[in-house]
Amino acid sequence: TISAVPIADNEPPKSYAPNTEERDEVLEQYRDYYNNYLEVPLHIGGEDITTSNMASIVPPHDHKHEVGRYHLATKKHIEQAIAVAMKAREKWVALSWEQRMSIFLKMADLLSGPYRAKIVASTMLCQSKTVHQAEIDAACEFIDFLRFNVDFATQIYSEQPISSKGIWNRLEYRPLEGFIYAATPFNFTAIAANLCTSVAMMGNVVVWKPSESQMYSAKIIMDVFRESGLPDGVVNMVSGNPEMITDTVLNSPDFAGIHYTGSTEVFKGIWKKIGQQIQCYKTYPKIVGETGGKDFIVAHHSANSQEVATAISRGAFEFQGQKCSAASRVYLPVSNADEIIELLKKDIQSFKIGSPEDMGNFITAVIHERAFDRLANYIDRAKQSSDAEVIIGGKYNKSKGYFVEPTVILTTNPNYETMETELFGPVVTIYKYPQENWEDLLDLVDKTSPYALTGAVFSKDRYAIDEASKKLENAAGNFYINDKPTGAVVGQQPFGGARASGTNDKAGSPMNLLRWVSTRLIKETF
Ligand code: SER
Repeated sequence: TISAVPIADNEPPKSYAPNTEERDEVLEQYRDYYNNYLEVPLHIGGEDITTSNMASIVPPHDHKHEVGRYHLATKKHIEQAIAVAMKAREKWVALSWEQRMSIFLKMADLLSGPYRAKIVASTMLCQSKTVHQAEIDAACEFIDFLRFNVDFATQIYSEQPISSKGIWNRLEYRPLEGFIYAATPFNFTAIAANLCTSVAMMGNVVVWKPSESQMYSAKIIMDVFRESGLPDGVVNMVSGNPEMITDTVLNSPDFAGIHYTGSTEVFKGIWKKIGQQIQCYKTYPKIVGETGGKDFIVAHHSANSQEVATAISRGAFEFQGQKCSAASRVYLPVSNADEIIELLKKDIQSFKIGSPEDMGNFITAVIHERAFDRLANYIDRAKQSSDAEVIIGGKYNKSKGYFVEPTVILTTNPNYETMETELFGPVVTIYKYPQENWEDLLDLVDKTSPYALTGAVFSKDRYAIDEASKKLENAAGNFYINDKPTGAVVGQQPFGGARASGTNDKAGSPMNLLRWVSTRLIKETF
């Protein structure tokens, strides 16, 4: 019964302070990965599969140094992965849910113990995260997803309809009839892992395509899956041409759903393709995705200036602004704007930029050259625009790594391109509004928001908070009051948004897990 369900605790982050064992251990692991070449094979049905084509793995902050290569699949490999997953499904669906849960709890313990330094160091090295950002992602959030989802799954399996005299009603929470495709992003190791584990936990089998920019930590995730006792074939990892992989998967009649995090455009393309070939599937595929964002911070004139400045500097620049939740458009009242910008400048000037190996650095590189060039372009255009000026930062350099300074653009045009386009980098744009126009401003924030992922409002005035909360009710799936819009904690702030930001099936919640079951109701009369 539900009263027997254990409540997970959030995994506490380690400090990595100087002269601690954890710091030495993670640095040693980082250097070991940096100096020893890694080959990442495909992983299909418990077998490592090498191919004749490979692509390079380089740290974004040190892109001339190849640390490994990953193998590229052909169409045949993808078809093989699907066939192997469907074969593994026969036994996996028959295993009791309690047996399945043991595997995922063991995974969490492995990550909390022997795999912690490995998963953190690989995320630092090849996704260019600082140790603290890698810790809250690849260790804490990954572990939390596993433990909390086990609790949520236990609640789900325990939930039964009422019965009456002569009638017994029961619900079976069955896996979907087919396999699930997990297409995952580079920016959170925990999201990549969770898009596979949440699905597998509910008894499904998975074909997993990690981002090409996450192949190093993807390999460590596969090692953890293997060591936890996850049966062969339940999660199969394939890498290669993304369009070819997606097309091959979507062409299978056994395709039963997609668990996706990535760009809005790619997701819409996938949705369209599924619709076009709906006749070929056995069942309506479940489509679950988290996509883009243009996340906001809105300050009311009653807000505390220091709190707003800190929220901008943390919310916009941690992990170089590459969180889907990162603040990228800010609305400040004219009355407080100069003070907030001054405080922000001070904070940003204290940020050190460089390799994550130096743990004093707050900013490292952006993920790849394409991202770097695109950001540099937007910054250059702002420098030349009559609508905008670059007031903080604005320099970039890709000679060693893809480094972009934390950059603040000030615009007089609320529709200026960087107020509306998702940049996914360390660039934030500020617009000043006359403080007496609070309600009009809220309408503007809502209207200029095709996305609806996260947003934050800062105010000490309860009426202003209430107005913002009502007028922006559809503009953010995660709405923060007097806090930055990033850093959702599993079990506390389920995460996801609507509009062009996704299907809002809240990661790290029972709502998400319920998308991966197909329930059978059984009524028996006596
Ligand atoms: N869950 C992350 C955050 O809240 C983003 O994906 O920052």
